[in-house]
Amino acid sequence: MEKARAIFVEESQHAAACKAVEIVEAAIHEAVNSRDVCHIALAGGTTPIPAYQILAARSMTGSIPWNRVNFFFGDERNVPPDHIESNYHTAQRELFDKAPVDWSRVYPMPGDAADLQAAAESYEKTIRRVVGGGNEHETPHFDLIMLGMGCDGHVASLFEGSPLLNEDKKLVAAECVTMLGRCRMTMTLPLIKAAHNVLLLVTGEDKAEMVYQAVIKGDRSLPAMHIKPNNGKLWIVVDKAAARLAVDEIEQRH
Ligand code: 6PG
Repeated sequence: MEKARAIFVEESQHAAACKAVEIVEAAIHEAVNSRDVCHIALAGGTTPIPAYQILAARSMTGSIPWNRVNFFFGDERNVPPDHIESNYHTAQRELFDKAPVDWSRVYPMPGDAADLQAAAESYEKTIRRVVGGGNEHETPHFDLIMLGMGCDGHVASLFEGSPLLNEDKKLVAAECVTMLGRCRMTMTLPLIKAAHNVLLLVTGEDKAEMVYQAVIKGDRSLPAMHIKPNNGKLWIVVDKAAARLAVDEIEQRH
Protein backbone atom coordinates (compact mmCIF):
# COMPACT_ATOMS: atom_id res chain seq x y z
CA MET A 1 0.00 0.00 0.00
CA GLU A 2 1.32 3.41 -0.94
CA LYS A 3 2.70 5.31 2.06
CA ALA A 4 0.48 8.16 3.22
CA ARG A 5 3.49 10.45 3.79
CA ALA A 6 6.64 11.01 1.82
CA ILE A 7 9.53 13.30 2.80
CA PHE A 8 12.08 14.54 0.29
CA VAL A 9 15.26 16.37 1.31
CA GLU A 10 16.66 18.15 -1.73
CA GLU A 11 20.13 19.63 -2.16
CA SER A 12 18.99 23.20 -2.83
CA GLN A 13 16.00 25.53 -2.94
CA HIS A 14 15.91 25.05 -6.71
CA ALA A 15 16.00 21.25 -6.41
CA ALA A 16 13.19 21.41 -3.86
CA ALA A 17 11.18 23.56 -6.26
CA CYS A 18 11.81 21.04 -9.06
CA LYS A 19 10.57 18.21 -6.82
CA ALA A 20 7.48 20.21 -5.92
CA VAL A 21 6.79 20.84 -9.62
CA GLU A 22 7.13 17.10 -10.30
CA ILE A 23 4.49 16.37 -7.65
CA VAL A 24 2.16 19.13 -8.90
CA GLU A 25 2.42 18.02 -12.53
CA ALA A 26 1.79 14.38 -11.59
CA ALA A 27 -1.33 15.39 -9.67
CA ILE A 28 -2.59 17.43 -12.64
CA HIS A 29 -2.03 14.58 -15.10
CA GLU A 30 -3.70 12.04 -12.77
CA ALA A 31 -6.75 14.24 -12.18
CA VAL A 32 -7.24 15.33 -15.78
CA ASN A 33 -6.70 11.81 -17.10
CA SER A 34 -9.39 10.47 -14.76
CA ARG A 35 -11.86 13.38 -14.48
CA ASP A 36 -10.85 15.86 -17.19
CA VAL A 37 -10.33 18.51 -14.52
CA CYS A 38 -7.87 19.26 -11.71
CA HIS A 39 -8.53 21.37 -8.63
CA ILE A 40 -5.47 22.97 -7.06
CA ALA A 41 -5.04 25.39 -4.13
CA LEU A 42 -1.83 27.41 -4.30
CA ALA A 43 0.34 28.38 -1.35
CA GLY A 44 1.10 31.90 -0.27
CA GLY A 45 4.31 33.52 0.84
CA THR A 46 7.61 33.49 -1.06
CA THR A 47 8.66 29.82 -0.85
CA PRO A 48 6.54 28.70 -3.82
CA ILE A 49 7.91 31.38 -6.19
CA PRO A 50 10.73 29.23 -7.66
CA ALA A 51 8.22 26.41 -8.21
CA TYR A 52 5.79 28.79 -9.94
CA GLN A 53 8.64 30.04 -12.14
CA ILE A 54 9.59 26.47 -13.12
CA LEU A 55 5.96 25.57 -13.84
CA ALA A 56 5.64 28.68 -16.00
CA ALA A 57 8.89 27.99 -17.87
CA ARG A 58 7.83 24.37 -18.54
CA SER A 59 4.31 25.38 -19.51
CA MET A 60 5.23 26.38 -23.02
CA THR A 61 6.82 23.04 -23.90
CA GLY A 62 5.37 20.53 -21.45
CA SER A 63 2.25 18.44 -21.65
CA ILE A 64 0.28 20.04 -18.81
CA PRO A 65 -3.39 20.63 -19.77
CA TRP A 66 -3.42 24.07 -18.16
CA ASN A 67 -6.90 24.88 -19.43
CA ARG A 68 -8.33 22.02 -17.36
CA VAL A 69 -6.90 23.28 -14.04
CA ASN A 70 -8.93 25.25 -11.50
CA PHE A 71 -6.73 27.42 -9.29
CA PHE A 72 -7.81 28.42 -5.79
CA PHE A 73 -5.77 29.79 -2.88
CA GLY A 74 -5.10 28.33 0.56
CA ASP A 75 -5.09 31.75 2.18
CA GLU A 76 -4.91 35.45 1.46
CA ARG A 77 -3.76 38.57 3.17
CA ASN A 78 -5.98 41.57 3.82
CA VAL A 79 -4.68 43.47 0.78
CA PRO A 80 -6.00 44.12 -2.74
CA PRO A 81 -5.20 41.53 -5.44
CA ASP A 82 -2.73 43.91 -7.10
CA HIS A 83 -0.79 44.50 -3.88
CA ILE A 84 2.79 43.22 -3.69
CA GLU A 85 1.90 41.24 -0.53
CA SER A 86 -1.09 39.52 -2.15
CA ASN A 87 -0.71 35.77 -2.60
CA TYR A 88 -2.85 36.07 -5.72
CA HIS A 89 -0.56 38.81 -7.07
CA THR A 90 2.47 36.56 -6.53
CA ALA A 91 0.87 33.66 -8.42
CA GLN A 92 -0.36 35.98 -11.17
CA ARG A 93 3.07 37.58 -11.64
CA GLU A 94 5.06 34.33 -11.51
CA LEU A 95 2.66 31.80 -13.05
CA PHE A 96 -0.69 32.93 -14.44
CA ASP A 97 0.78 35.71 -16.60
CA LYS A 98 3.25 33.25 -18.14
CA ALA A 99 1.42 29.91 -18.45
CA PRO A 100 -1.59 29.28 -20.72
CA VAL A 101 -4.07 29.07 -17.83
CA ASP A 102 -7.80 29.55 -18.39
CA TRP A 103 -8.42 32.79 -16.47
CA SER A 104 -12.05 31.80 -15.93
CA ARG A 105 -10.66 28.97 -13.82
CA VAL A 106 -8.58 31.21 -11.52
CA TYR A 107 -10.39 32.01 -8.25
CA PRO A 108 -8.65 34.71 -6.19
CA MET A 109 -9.46 34.59 -2.48
CA PRO A 110 -11.10 37.96 -1.53
CA GLY A 111 -8.83 38.69 1.42
CA ASP A 112 -9.50 42.42 1.26
CA ALA A 113 -13.30 42.25 1.34
CA ALA A 114 -15.04 44.72 3.63
CA ASP A 115 -17.05 41.90 5.22
CA LEU A 116 -14.45 39.12 5.51
CA GLN A 117 -16.82 36.60 7.08
CA ALA A 118 -19.36 36.99 4.27
CA ALA A 119 -16.55 36.83 1.70
CA ALA A 120 -15.21 33.63 3.29
CA GLU A 121 -18.68 32.07 3.12
CA SER A 122 -18.94 33.10 -0.53
CA TYR A 123 -15.52 31.62 -1.37
CA GLU A 124 -16.56 28.40 0.32
CA LYS A 125 -19.72 28.31 -1.81
CA THR A 126 -17.58 28.76 -4.93
CA ILE A 127 -15.37 25.85 -3.86
CA ARG A 128 -18.44 23.70 -3.27
CA ARG A 129 -19.87 24.69 -6.68
CA VAL A 130 -16.66 24.18 -8.66
CA VAL A 131 -14.82 21.43 -6.78
CA GLY A 132 -17.87 19.54 -5.62
CA GLY A 133 -19.28 18.54 -2.27
CA GLY A 134 -22.42 20.53 -3.03
CA ASN A 135 -24.18 19.67 0.22
CA GLU A 136 -22.87 20.93 3.53
CA HIS A 137 -22.27 17.37 4.75
CA GLU A 138 -19.72 16.48 2.09
CA THR A 139 -16.33 18.17 1.97
CA PRO A 140 -14.87 18.94 -1.48
CA HIS A 141 -11.71 17.05 -2.37
CA PHE A 142 -8.95 19.14 -3.93
CA ASP A 143 -6.54 17.17 -6.07
CA LEU A 144 -3.64 19.06 -4.54
CA ILE A 145 -3.30 21.72 -1.86
CA MET A 146 0.11 23.36 -1.74
CA LEU A 147 1.27 24.89 1.55
CA GLY A 148 4.30 26.68 2.89
CA MET A 149 5.21 26.86 6.57
CA GLY A 150 6.05 29.90 8.62
CA CYS A 151 8.97 30.04 11.06
CA ASP A 152 6.38 29.63 13.80
CA GLY A 153 4.91 26.47 12.27
CA HIS A 154 1.81 28.06 10.79
CA VAL A 155 0.39 26.85 7.50
CA ALA A 156 -1.96 28.82 5.28
CA SER A 157 -3.22 31.39 7.79
CA LEU A 158 -3.72 28.85 10.58
CA PHE A 159 -1.60 30.01 13.49
CA GLU A 160 -0.74 28.23 16.73
CA GLY A 161 -3.42 28.78 19.34
CA SER A 162 -6.00 29.98 16.84
CA PRO A 163 -9.59 28.83 17.42
CA LEU A 164 -9.66 28.11 13.67
CA LEU A 165 -7.51 25.03 14.40
CA ASN A 166 -10.60 23.50 16.01
CA GLU A 167 -13.00 24.65 13.27
CA ASP A 168 -14.88 21.57 12.10
CA LYS A 169 -17.65 23.08 9.98
CA LYS A 170 -16.39 26.08 8.00
CA LEU A 171 -14.12 25.19 5.09
CA VAL A 172 -12.99 28.80 4.62
CA ALA A 173 -12.77 31.27 7.48
CA ALA A 174 -11.51 34.74 8.30
CA GLU A 175 -9.67 35.82 11.41
CA CYS A 176 -7.86 38.89 12.65
CA VAL A 177 -4.49 37.46 13.72
CA THR A 178 -3.38 39.23 16.91
CA MET A 179 0.25 38.28 16.41
CA LEU A 180 0.24 39.85 12.95
CA GLY A 181 -2.09 42.74 13.72
CA ARG A 182 -3.71 41.87 10.39
CA CYS A 183 -6.80 40.03 9.22
CA ARG A 184 -6.48 36.94 7.05
CA MET A 185 -8.74 34.57 5.10
CA THR A 186 -7.80 30.90 5.09
CA MET A 187 -8.83 27.39 4.22
CA THR A 188 -9.43 25.38 7.41
CA LEU A 189 -8.17 21.93 8.34
CA PRO A 190 -11.33 20.01 7.30
CA LEU A 191 -10.85 21.24 3.72
CA ILE A 192 -7.08 20.74 3.71
CA LYS A 193 -7.39 17.21 5.14
CA ALA A 194 -9.99 16.25 2.52
CA ALA A 195 -7.47 16.74 -0.30
CA HIS A 196 -6.10 13.85 -2.32
CA ASN A 197 -2.63 15.39 -2.03
CA VAL A 198 -1.16 17.98 0.34
CA LEU A 199 2.24 19.32 -0.64
CA LEU A 200 4.22 21.08 2.12
CA LEU A 201 7.18 22.92 0.62
CA VAL A 202 9.68 24.37 3.11
CA THR A 203 13.06 25.85 2.24
CA GLY A 204 15.67 28.03 3.90
CA GLU A 205 17.82 28.05 6.99
CA ASP A 206 15.28 30.11 8.90
CA LYS A 207 12.84 27.17 8.87
CA ALA A 208 15.33 24.57 10.22
CA GLU A 209 14.19 24.74 13.86
CA MET A 210 10.55 24.45 12.91
CA VAL A 211 11.15 21.58 10.49
CA TYR A 212 12.85 19.75 13.37
CA GLN A 213 10.00 20.52 15.78
CA ALA A 214 7.30 19.57 13.28
CA VAL A 215 8.78 16.68 11.33
CA ILE A 216 11.01 15.03 13.94
CA LYS A 217 9.63 16.01 17.34
CA GLY A 218 6.08 15.87 16.06
CA ASP A 219 5.05 18.88 18.15
CA ARG A 220 1.25 18.64 17.96
CA SER A 221 0.82 22.28 18.97
CA LEU A 222 2.04 23.28 15.52
CA PRO A 223 -0.56 23.74 12.78
CA ALA A 224 1.86 22.12 10.31
CA MET A 225 1.35 18.87 12.23
CA HIS A 226 -2.34 18.69 11.36
CA ILE A 227 -2.40 18.77 7.57
CA LYS A 228 -2.07 15.08 6.70
CA PRO A 229 -4.97 14.18 4.40
CA ASN A 230 -7.61 11.81 5.77
CA ASN A 231 -7.45 9.56 2.73
CA GLY A 232 -4.74 11.16 0.64
CA LYS A 233 -1.00 11.67 0.63
CA LEU A 234 1.16 14.22 2.43
CA TRP A 235 4.22 15.21 0.46
CA ILE A 236 6.89 17.08 2.45
CA VAL A 237 9.61 18.67 0.34
CA VAL A 238 12.44 20.50 2.10
CA ASP A 239 15.87 21.67 1.07
CA LYS A 240 19.00 20.78 3.08
CA ALA A 241 19.06 24.22 4.67
CA ALA A 242 15.60 23.76 6.15
CA ALA A 243 16.40 20.13 7.08
CA ARG A 244 19.73 21.02 8.73
CA LEU A 245 18.60 19.85 12.19
CA ALA A 246 16.53 16.92 10.99
CA VAL A 247 18.28 15.35 8.02
CA ASP A 248 19.92 12.45 9.90
CA GLU A 249 16.65 11.35 11.49
CA ILE A 250 14.69 11.82 8.27
CA GLU A 251 17.15 9.59 6.42
CA GLN A 252 17.00 6.96 9.17
CA ARG A 253 13.21 6.88 9.08
CA HIS A 254 12.67 6.89 5.34
C1 6PG B 1 1.03 33.52 3.82
C2 6PG B 1 1.19 32.06 3.58
C3 6PG B 1 1.89 31.45 4.73
C4 6PG B 1 3.25 31.11 4.18
C5 6PG B 1 4.24 30.94 5.28
C6 6PG B 1 5.65 30.83 4.71
O1 6PG B 1 0.07 34.10 3.31
O2 6PG B 1 1.94 34.06 4.46
O3 6PG B 1 0.20 31.41 3.12
O4 6PG B 1 1.30 30.33 5.29
O5 6PG B 1 3.16 29.91 3.43
O6 6PG B 1 4.16 32.10 6.11
O7 6PG B 1 5.96 32.06 4.08
P1 6PG B 1 7.31 32.18 3.22
O8 6PG B 1 7.17 31.20 2.11
O9 6PG B 1 7.30 33.60 2.72
O10 6PG B 1 8.44 31.86 4.16
